[in-house]
Amino acid sequence: MRITEHPVLGKLEKKPVTFSFNGKKYEAQAGESIAAALLANDIRILRYTEKHGTPRGIYCGIGHCYECRVMVNGERNFRACITPVKQDMQILSQHGEIL
Ligand code: FES
Repeated sequence: MRITEHPVLGKLEKKPVTFSFNGKKYEAQAGESIAAALLANDIRILRYTEKHGTPRGIYCGIGHCYECRVMVNGERNFRACITPVKQDMQILSQHGEIL
């Protein structure tokens, strides 16, 4: 099950791309969000909280809550729910502080 038309990202291209999450390779459709691609691969935990290290996943799904922050190609604080996945993107769970 996939989101084929997103209100912010537009229509899904239906072109396969590969990306990695925490070092493991996965397949996605070009143009879908990182969060959608991870959900389609049964991944629910995106990050761990700053204070207690508890797991977090998608909450609002529209870019407001920042619960879905992940690292992309070595940079922190990408919101997985509104960031399109791209070919060879390297995504990591985010741990610790926001900065
Ligand atoms: S789930 Fe709320 S900003 Fe991504």
